Amino acid sequence: MRRLIFATNNKHKVEEVRAALNGTVEIVTLAEAGLCGEIPETADTLQGNALQKAQWVWERTHCDCFADDTGLEVEALDGAPGVYSARYAGEHCSFDDNIDKLLGALEGENNRRADFRTVICLIEGGNTQYFEGRVDGQILTERHSNGEGFGYDPVFMPDRFAVSFAEMPLDVKNSISHRGLAVKQLAEYLSQTNGTQAASLQ
Ligand code: IMP
Repeated sequence: MRRLIFATNNKHKVEEVRAALNGTVEIVTLAEAGLCGEIPETADTLQGNALQKAQWVWERTHCDCFADDTGLEVEALDGAPGVYSARYAGEHCSFDDNIDKLLGALEGENNRRADFRTVICLIEGGNTQYFEGRVDGQILTERHSNGEGFGYDPVFMPDRFAVSFAEMPLDVKNSISHRGLAVKQLAEYLSQTNGTQAASLQ
């Protein structure tokens, strides 16, 4: 079976990707591949970070692999926190710290438009391919949560819904989310190719 190393140890992401691929591709985590250490994420774009993470795996294994990177892009903040979403409130900050900083930055702001964007970089046979998913919505003025989700979910309400990501069942969120859409594209690509196509795409 075709095998890909996913440059993550995040269980939720791995479950989501495995579900989307429906057993057609074997997904191996960093730990399962015997890889440890901090992967650098020092690029200033989502695409750059996804590439950096996938290349880190490729250079060590020469196995087909992929990585993802996600950012929350807020219109009134000129696209911030964007590629810095994880550490918006500082290194080692919590999700709550990030949300507090975001709500503070948008205090009194009428334009609450924002999007989540995920870029996946796939390296097959040394060649790179990108897949992108995006969901538009708005930043709420306070947290709305049923305890679902993570990150900025309690303050992000996707368009056409009256609830935040943190109030939705995970399968509903995954069906419309940035990462869900990027993974769907990756899955479609993988289902249409047999693993040797990437070399001929270049
Ligand atoms: P990562 O690139 O997937 O690690 O995402 C970077 C940061 O974006 C995370 O630390 C979260 O703060 C935020 N983020 C990513 N995906 C989501 C999501 O689905 N909901 C809420 N926040 C997210």
